Amino acid sequence: MLNDDFHVAIIMDGNGRWAKAKGLARTAGHLKGSDNVRNIAIAASELGVTHLTLYAFSTENWKRAKDEVNYIMKLPGVFFEKYMDEFIERGYRMNIIGKLDELPKKTYDVLIDAMEKSKDNTGLVLTICMNYGSQMELINAAEAYARDVKEGKAELPLTNEVFESYLMTKGLPMVDLLIRTSGEQRISNYLLYQIAYAELVFCEEAWPEFDKEVLKRCLDEYNKRDRRFGGVKNV
Ligand code: FPP
Repeated sequence: MLNDDFHVAIIMDGNGRWAKAKGLARTAGHLKGSDNVRNIAIAASELGVTHLTLYAFSTENWKRAKDEVNYIMKLPGVFFEKYMDEFIERGYRMNIIGKLDELPKKTYDVLIDAMEKSKDNTGLVLTICMNYGSQMELINAAEAYARDVKEGKAELPLTNEVFESYLMTKGLPMVDLLIRTSGEQRISNYLLYQIAYAELVFCEEAWPEFDKEVLKRCLDEYNKRDRRFGGVKNV
């Protein structure tokens, strides 16, 4: 059983290795991975997930080869061209977070358009993190809050609730389950504040081969965990 508001965040890792193992270019892995975003959004929604947050491009990913970065920047255009109508029909709301103003103009426009077109939808909230990094998010939030205090628009002491309203994830519930694909077990600057009490599940499958069955397995694993939020178990 999942809570009414159930937030799954995924680090979609392993596109490059998946492609290499098949003798394909890394970009083929990213293309397959982006199509899988659609499949997993549908699967997640069908399984009772209300919020799905995916790590598509980090503030550190600019270090990759220029061709690969350019390819990933074009993917949102390809992706929404293929799937936006279906997402609207299904009632999904697109939410994009990250330093969007540093993205190429075309990528930026596509992402803003996807949010705008789906803003009144009430189904699955699909958040895509694009040029996102948690440390950058926390530092920006701290700066914005300090500025507001200085200008008399906010006051001390700072509460969790107020601080959360300065984060890019404003309005989203805290993460319940964090999944990382392809066997790596690290957080990579992802949602550091928001995963405070999340359950972590790592799976061996690369993102392009992560399907509804694997997602179900991760949810089953979550359901076996005993979440205590720092309290003690009721016996
Ligand atoms: C990590 O795998 C994956 C990425 C950095 C890119 C993920 C992007 C997508 C799945 C497409 C995003 C889709 C939209 C719609 C924006 P990796 O390349 O680091 O894999 P590796 O560890 O095997 O090299």
